[in-house]
Amino acid sequence: MQLIAHRGASGLAPENTLAAFRLALELGASAMEFDVHQTADKELVIIHDEDLKRVGGRGERIRDMTWPELCRFDVGSWFDARFCAERVPRLEEVFDLALRKAELHVELKCGSRVYPGIEGRLVQLIRSRRALPACVVSSFDHKALFALRALEPRLRLGYLLGDTPLDQAFQEIEELKAESLNLSGKQASAVRISAAHRRGLKLLVYTVNDAPEARRFAKMRVDGVFSNFPELLK
Ligand code: G3P
Ligand code: MG
Repeated sequence: MQLIAHRGASGLAPENTLAAFRLALELGASAMEFDVHQTADKELVIIHDEDLKRVGGRGERIRDMTWPELCRFDVGSWFDARFCAERVPRLEEVFDLALRKAELHVELKCGSRVYPGIEGRLVQLIRSRRALPACVVSSFDHKALFALRALEPRLRLGYLLGDTPLDQAFQEIEELKAESLNLSGKQASAVRISAAHRRGLKLLVYTVNDAPEARRFAKMRVDGVFSNFPELLK
């Protein structure tokens, strides 16, 4: 079973920062996950929430800020003072650090409904970095997955189930030619796991931070778990 460092080694360093990604690589992660939003001046940036509240800001929204404004924010001190130099990374910086070292699970938080043109920008960047084999783009925003597929037939896609009924999800996954169904730990039943496998899909589970739970999923033939602790099973 693959272990995917969730938001980097986010149990040990501030989530979605270069420090968290560097640490995940140092700890031997073969895959990592991170979340993408877009600034007002169309930079693709790595942060989980749509605003800065949880990582030390006062609720400033990413879509309202330009990159020169956003890059001044310290997004490390909320976790620990020694991370005070951490800034919101751009996707390009994560590629500089981690491409060809790990598989990259790029979670697009919202598509064009919120961030006009984001799918095209993401595909263009992935192509220009020759990152198509290394990246799996996932999203709860299934419209965004369809937009991505229309732009690039070779792009690897992961389908985050969210509240979508399973039958509908399998139908869409087939149309999308997605490679995985991604479920929360609560959603991941034996029935769903084998239903995905019967269709030739990988089944990935988030977020698993407890070693016995990870071993239970491994026994259930889950293909990968997203974990804040890359060494969980070592
Ligand atoms: O991609 C798996 C997982 O990251 C989805 O949930 O909220 O942690 O982005 P979230
Ligand atoms: Mg995520």
